[in-house]
Amino acid sequence: MERVFGDPLGDWRRSCYCGEPRVSSVGEELILAGWAQGRRDHGGLIFVDLRDRSGIIQIVFNPEVSPAAHDKAKQIRSEDVLAVRGLLARRPPETINSQIATGEVELLAREVKLLNASQVPPFPIEDEAEASENTRLKYRYLDLRRPRSLSPLVLRYRMCKKIRDYLDGLGFIEIETPVLTKSTPEGARDYLVPSRIYPGRFYALPQSPQLFKQILMVGGLDRYFQIVRCFRDEDLRADRQPEFTQLDVEMSFVQPEDVFQVVEVMIGLLFKELKGIDLQRPFPRLSWEQAISRYGSDKPDLRFGLELRDFSSTFQGSQVRVFSEALAKGGVVKGIAVPGGSAFSRKELTDEFPGFVGRYGAKGLAWIKLTPEWQSPIAKFLTEQERSDILQISGARSGDIIFLLADEARVVHEALSNLRLHLGERLGLIPQEAYSLVWIVDFPLLEHDPEGRRYVSVHHPFTAPRDQDLNLLSQEPLKVRSKAYDLVLNGVEIGGGSIRIHQVSLQKQVLGLLGFSPEEAEERFGFFLEALSFGAPPHGGIAFGVDRLAMILSGARSIREVIAFPKSQRAVCLLTDAPSAVDPKQLKELGIKTILGE
Ligand code: AMO
Ligand code: AMP
Repeated sequence: MERVFGDPLGDWRRSCYCGEPRVSSVGEELILAGWAQGRRDHGGLIFVDLRDRSGIIQIVFNPEVSPAAHDKAKQIRSEDVLAVRGLLARRPPETINSQIATGEVELLAREVKLLNASQVPPFPIEDEAEASENTRLKYRYLDLRRPRSLSPLVLRYRMCKKIRDYLDGLGFIEIETPVLTKSTPEGARDYLVPSRIYPGRFYALPQSPQLFKQILMVGGLDRYFQIVRCFRDEDLRADRQPEFTQLDVEMSFVQPEDVFQVVEVMIGLLFKELKGIDLQRPFPRLSWEQAISRYGSDKPDLRFGLELRDFSSTFQGSQVRVFSEALAKGGVVKGIAVPGGSAFSRKELTDEFPGFVGRYGAKGLAWIKLTPEWQSPIAKFLTEQERSDILQISGARSGDIIFLLADEARVVHEALSNLRLHLGERLGLIPQEAYSLVWIVDFPLLEHDPEGRRYVSVHHPFTAPRDQDLNLLSQEPLKVRSKAYDLVLNGVEIGGGSIRIHQVSLQKQVLGLLGFSPEEAEERFGFFLEALSFGAPPHGGIAFGVDRLAMILSGARSIREVIAFPKSQRAVCLLTDAPSAVDPKQLKELGIKTILGE
């Protein structure tokens, strides 16, 4: 076939997208353009499915309609780019394809232009075709030709557009903040960018625009938002990427209720307009303490039960040594009752579930099957009183199983919250079409870092303590609760924020508690402390994970599906191969020498 170079379309103008023609246009001459999705030769006729982002249409090359076009069509291969001029016709009734929107029509080709040829693609470009995620990311442009891969990105775009329109209507202004900046502590490692002009000095890519948005409040902006890229060098998971997008919001002269109001209406709107779902408002709220105590997690999935129960008071001084000893050391004994769980096999109970909780540091997992004779490795140690307490606290009934775990509270909560999710999924208890939103409030301001040597912020250092707890700040800082809040959707933290500290003296005190000497505080945050000292208004806000929200709204399983060019699980861009080595000359200019290979 002759290749068309130069201006390959010539005077052709595309009539519409491939997915659009309907019976109402039968008899019209159309010019369509797109990619060939396979070719089928049926004796005299050749069929080619032509695809673009809108869908697919069947093209028929009939030698009686156009011998020249039919002749050319013999050479068409998958993923060649074509333009076709032809007559839209009704399909014979027995060939109607009800699976596709254009299934009642077909285009009878009069002329075809091969605009570009394609190599054989590494995987078939069809929704149903399976390809490994790594292959899909390396050839993301081929992957995106599949409607299934493109549609999450389209939903994400619509979501962001609605967010912008909604916030604009409330008088919010979108303002960009720097990408080359100074590190803001959000708890992850920074990505650093070396400065050529100042060798040995570095910019940090923002983990969030936290300080800039607060400074905008000092600047009198009053209502700011931004859909903004953030960068965090942390271990990746299905809902984490090294660069991700926040919807960042900040408002002046507000209480948490004002932020909740703006957010709940916005989330309600997105669900209504993108999914046709009416959410109940106001969203329920759980204190951090309730969330941890009932679900073991500060991002509980409330779509199902299996709540944690506390058996600590039952087992003080008990003959069940693993329990009484854990309690004597200040630990807890908590458990989950699983309806119908006495059907679990011995193998599941001795290998699978203990192995599962073991990943979270649990040293074992006791269980009680509520069969007529209780079956349990600890049955022979249980007193009558303990048995009746267990029944009462667990609410379990004949045929159920109760899992019990003893350890320090942190381990018990982490292990049981994960066991709860695991069981919920395994037993099919999580309704897939349900959406459960919950605000988590009254977080502690501070916690001990894992090594216990110092305090760290539960949110970030700019979060305000609750007024009623201010007097505890110097004596019992771990008891101070903050004005922070997270919004959790189906067990995923989709947003978090707080009312901020706006008085410079309180900010300095909190930085002091976090272990910054006055000199260090000045060195790292001097510009910000100074800004606070020039009449900072009371203010607060929130930031949402745009990728996470789009993931849930589009039903995707990973945020990688709602990002056009995501990094792999191992933080690599498989399309471009970044990160990659650089020219030694570039390093020299930057005054950088690597110690690798020395
Ligand atoms: P936070 O650190 O909670 O708060 O981040 C806000 C939201 O961003 C999303 N998120 C992520 N999404 C994908 N990949 C990641 N690595 C990632 N990290 C966070 C989450 C999270 O709820 N400046 C504060 C907000 C504020 O106080 O206003 C902040 O960044 O959905
Ligand atoms: P053992 O005394 O090791 O035979 O354990 C008796 C039962 O208690 C087994 O089912 C163990 O899995 C369980 N077990 C051991 N340690 C703990 C713990 N910390 N919490 C709950 N159960 C435990």
